[in-house]
Amino acid sequence: CVNQCSLCIKRLFSTTSIVNGGKITRENVNIHKTVAKKKNFAEFLSEHRDQANRSILVRLRGEGVEKGLINYCSQLGKLRNSFTYTGDGLYAVIEFDDSSSIQELLNKVKPKKSQKKSSFQSRLLNFSGGSESKSRTKTNYETQHSIEHLQINFHQKLQAANSVDEQMMILTKEQELADEDLHKRFLVCSLIEEGIEKIVPNCTIYPFGSTVNSFGKAGSDLDMYMELGSQNGVVPVKTGRNRFQMVFDTKSASSERAATQQTLGTVATFLQENVPHCVSVQRILKARCPIVKFHHKAANLQCDLSSNNSIATKTTELLYLYGNYDSRVRPLVFAFRHWARYNGITTSCPGPWITNFGITLMVIYFLQTRSPSVVPTLDYLCAMADSSDQCIVDDVNCTFLSDINSIPTSLNTQSLGQLMYEFFDFYARFNFQKFAISLRRGDKFPKPEDYPLYIENPFEVDLNVTRNVHPDQLSRIVDRMQEAVWLIEQHGLRKTNNDDDIPPWGLAALLMDFRKAQRKGRTESLLLTEYLSPIFQSLAETNARTDLNNGQMKVIS
Ligand code: CTP
Ligand code: MG
Repeated sequence: CVNQCSLCIKRLFSTTSIVNGGKITRENVNIHKTVAKKKNFAEFLSEHRDQANRSILVRLRGEGVEKGLINYCSQLGKLRNSFTYTGDGLYAVIEFDDSSSIQELLNKVKPKKSQKKSSFQSRLLNFSGGSESKSRTKTNYETQHSIEHLQINFHQKLQAANSVDEQMMILTKEQELADEDLHKRFLVCSLIEEGIEKIVPNCTIYPFGSTVNSFGKAGSDLDMYMELGSQNGVVPVKTGRNRFQMVFDTKSASSERAATQQTLGTVATFLQENVPHCVSVQRILKARCPIVKFHHKAANLQCDLSSNNSIATKTTELLYLYGNYDSRVRPLVFAFRHWARYNGITTSCPGPWITNFGITLMVIYFLQTRSPSVVPTLDYLCAMADSSDQCIVDDVNCTFLSDINSIPTSLNTQSLGQLMYEFFDFYARFNFQKFAISLRRGDKFPKPEDYPLYIENPFEVDLNVTRNVHPDQLSRIVDRMQEAVWLIEQHGLRKTNNDDDIPPWGLAALLMDFRKAQRKGRTESLLLTEYLSPIFQSLAETNARTDLNNGQMKVIS
């Protein structure tokens, strides 16, 4: 459910393992969906922004200093929450019940000896001393889950699960952003806002992208969006002259894009020179969407700051809605993104491959095409919108329903395991050569331009989200999808017994080395007769495969 509450997770586990060998029945899906009222995106953002504004980030120096910090802060106001994590040192996040306690605390903070009176003061503080207790508060949160850590323990956990549905929930729990990580990310936005406000008064910094779209993963970047206040940036845009108007004499930029570039350039310099822990600042201002990249040392987060990018925030809201609408969406997205990373289909660096965002859209489109559908189309959500949902950004209609609770429950009762198999089969057979994907209509349509992979941007429908994907990378995606179908057919979606040394099954089978699987028990004739022949046959009908590989029939080996 939207709250990820343990009650719901437990219920889902117990029902899925007992009923129909892992199949979620319609009743179970409905039980799960009716447990809590789901927050809409605006409520979710405002709750977390409020929490961040009541929080401080403190670098701890000295043995056992955590207890001292808690005592110190408790004297200034009631605490709601606190946790520590390790980055380039030990840090604590302290959440007060009331933001007035923070002002009281800041009044007491002494500037460093070297610090000039005018220098920047923020809620990012240092606390040292206190050798009163040697016992360290247990660090309950680590900033990054490394891939290695995941791979060692993770396969054992998957093997021990009782159903594919359970395997997917394990993967989701392992990868999703912890509450503390979310808290820390909102706090970073709030600290950056506090800094930038000195040069762009009344600006607001919001997180967008995977941090808040419900598909966030530990270690993913922090996308931030700067909403300009009434002053409209550092450099305002030149406006048409009205008669009889008194205006301040200022410098102005020739276009909105130029104004954004100049504002971001100034912000980049300010971050670099004044805002603590913002390092490796890069200005990428000539990109289609100008951004400032920097590393936030204390939070150990790679940050991308943009402005004038409101459509991306609506896309974020749309994904949040899908992720929270049906309990199967998030586990499927997490599973496919992990599988794609594991198979080298995507990486965190930019390049000619599909991104996590593209993969997420592929999963949602696939779920729209089930019969009955698992999630509604964007056109349906637009038709359901009421007057408060109306939203036009830069002449683009971004209107859609914001209240998740008013969307009728899906009539689709397929299990996660069934959907996982169908997902691979669907894209292994999809005619990418001819068709583009539209989440707006929940349908494919003839490609308007000759990109290898074409996924229509949900709002800016003339744009292809996956325009960067090279033909070789698409071939690789299709190859891996076909391998996945074969692996599922060989290893099955059901656990056959409870022995410790059973061969990988379900999701675990998809995450093992495909070549090893081939050596283990497959002959070439089996490969050709049982697996490749029908696929080549179906692809020969559409001509997709032969064309994709420039006329060469490539045998998976
Ligand atoms: N976005 C978009 N069109 C694109 C790329 C990105 O609208 N072609 C928007 C999406 O809202 C996306 C956000 O920008 O969620 C951030 O992009 P990115 O960081 O690439 O993707 P994330 O969804 O944040 O995924 P990741 O966890 O990999 O960062
Ligand atoms: Mg991102």
